[in-house]
Amino acid sequence: MSESATRRLEAIGKQLSLSSNNATSASIPPVTKVAGDSNGPRAKGKVVIITGANSVLGIGRAAAHQFAQNGARAVYLCDFDDTHLATHKREITSAWPTVDVHVRQFDAANEEAVREVVADALARYGRLDVFFANAGTLGPHAVFTDIDADTFMDTFRVNTLGVFLAAKHAAPAMKKTSAEKPEPSGSIIMTASVAGLRSNAGNTPYSASKAAVVSLAQTIAFQLSGTGIRVNAICPGLIETGMTSLVYEAARARGTERKIGQLNPLRRGGQADEIARVALFLGSDESSYVNGQAWAVDGGLSAGHPFVPGKLG
Ligand SMILES: NC(=O)c1ccc[n+]([C@@H]2O[C@H](COP(=O)([O-])OP(=O)(O)OC[C@H]3O[C@@H](n4cnc5c(N)ncnc54)[C@H](O)[C@@H]3O)[C@@H](O)[C@H]2O)c1
Repeated sequence: MSESATRRLEAIGKQLSLSSNNATSASIPPVTKVAGDSNGPRAKGKVVIITGANSVLGIGRAAAHQFAQNGARAVYLCDFDDTHLATHKREITSAWPTVDVHVRQFDAANEEAVREVVADALARYGRLDVFFANAGTLGPHAVFTDIDADTFMDTFRVNTLGVFLAAKHAAPAMKKTSAEKPEPSGSIIMTASVAGLRSNAGNTPYSASKAAVVSLAQTIAFQLSGTGIRVNAICPGLIETGMTSLVYEAARARGTERKIGQLNPLRRGGQADEIARVALFLGSDESSYVNGQAWAVDGGLSAGHPFVPGKLG
């Protein structure tokens, strides 16, 4: 462990063990706590940027709620579609008035725009703690032989380049220290997909672009060695959001909604909030030793080999 990381852990440990007064016996040392109480605000004081936050049913909006409810100092709601951003801002501000909510309309793959939103966070707050690079596009509904090069690259532009740019600009900002943030730290969270882990969860450009996101989390985590900045990818399974609303609507129209998600052992699709809570954990100090990982949050789908529902697992 680098000297600065060791110092940081020791300082947090000391502070928290003093405040929680958990040394009940003089004969044994207290448990070194690395984060605040799990039942307290888990993102207290953090400055958070979230892309892909416009969708009403989306993971980005749900994550913004989790970070705001958990004491974030500021949340940036970013999307290239701003239809609902102002409404989301009103809703969050009215529920959690202490949080500064900023809305930004830009394409997640536009480097200048990503640079600007990060610079804005630094200029206003002197810190950036979490970048949830979540914007994504579904890609073409076609077999690979029917997909042209531009369409392939466009899927990569949003899903992979957008995430790369988020990390590229977030990491230097997370290194900035101040009196209230004495050590560099931060959490870059990337939305990948179970489609990036193996086949049958998306078209080829989408799946390949998400596999690349997993790789980004792995390589960047190592390039940020010793900085205190963590990088992780979340790989959602089937979640009911704007992206999958057609699947859900079609199933409802056919009366086959209960078949959705039957291939995972929880036998249901997921909700955006179930991904948002994982993003909150990864963005909080409670996940301080989780780094370079791709977490499947998929009801168990990716834990198994292909199987026949109803037969013994
Ligand atoms: N819903 C699922 O089943 C599922 C599964 C695996 C992964 N994901 C991933 O989750 C992430 C969030 O998607 P969601 O499911 O909430 O879908 P969603 O469609 O509800 O939200 C996606 C948001 O991203 C925005 N967006 C798209 N392209 C953008 C761009 N170039 N710049 C800025 N914003 C852009 C959209 O406007 C939208 O608000 C995506 O990366 C998606 O690939 C979703």
